[in-house]
Amino acid sequence: YFEPQPSDSLQAARPERRTSKVAIVGAGAVGATMAYAALMRGSARTVALYDINAAKVKAEVLDLAHGIQFMPMAEVIGSDDVEVCRDADIIMVTAGAKQKPGQTRIDLAAATIGLIKKILPQLQDVAPNAVYVMVTNPVDVVTYAALKVSGLPREQLFGSGTVLDSSRLRYVLARECSVAVQNVHAYMVGEHGDSEFPLWSSATIGGVPLLEWPGIDGLSPLSEARREQIADEVVSSAYRIIEGKGATNYAVGLAGSRIIEAVLNDEHRVLPVSTELRDYYGVSDVCLSVPSVVGRNGCTERLLVPMSDSEQRRLRDSAQSLRSVAQQFGF
Ligand code: 2OP
Repeated sequence: YFEPQPSDSLQAARPERRTSKVAIVGAGAVGATMAYAALMRGSARTVALYDINAAKVKAEVLDLAHGIQFMPMAEVIGSDDVEVCRDADIIMVTAGAKQKPGQTRIDLAAATIGLIKKILPQLQDVAPNAVYVMVTNPVDVVTYAALKVSGLPREQLFGSGTVLDSSRLRYVLARECSVAVQNVHAYMVGEHGDSEFPLWSSATIGGVPLLEWPGIDGLSPLSEARREQIADEVVSSAYRIIEGKGATNYAVGLAGSRIIEAVLNDEHRVLPVSTELRDYYGVSDVCLSVPSVVGRNGCTERLLVPMSDSEQRRLRDSAQSLRSVAQQFGF
């Protein structure tokens, strides 16, 4: 074996090895799948799983580790001790109560807020400089509560919001219009939940405004009635998945890994994450999703996307319903 030994001067000139660590809190269906997605996509060099259930977290980490050979370079670690999250660059919080068939996301608020109050201070002790992303539902209310509990700035702590719902919308539109999903630009905004809605007025397909889309065959496939059906399909999709398999995990895992990459690679990517609004179309003091810029410093900007009068009204309605839930819990 011959291993070249760099001279001292070469060694000094060599840039530091880039490390990146994501800690995923909660090794349930969402957390474990997010870890899998992050490893498969090479989103971070170290993926740490933290769960109070020692047997579960150990089993998930072992199962993931056995697949490392087939993934991009990475390591996976896990523990029931919060120390495993130490010095993480980004923390994804997925722990919390599970939505049962028939329950809304809001029904989970009490249990999740209690949990957040307990675990956030522990996480802040070991990773004070991490970017924090709330994923647990009801994500907008949880994000708002987490901001108040942690005292962190809104750039550093935000929620996964409607990144997943926008991906669902794009999938349905791509199928409907027979174009690749990557060529559809459209956002679901507002609550990640029942009052969310699509921003039709700014949506485009390959640069063509969606409201003027003639259809590949010249027949407009997107009448107002059809658009309403599509929006309903998106809003109800989690209910249908939970009914069938008890949880949603794959798409949310991928959406989470997308956010991880935007932060760790400082991408300045436009994503509809849930952040605290301050006079955004007159909406303040509530967390909900609008297209925002995400990079290494977290969520640094919200884009003032053009909205029709009815879209502005729906944004305010969504904000109002979220604010009343937060108030019920003393926030
Ligand atoms: C989802 O939308 C349930 O919030 C979860 O898949």
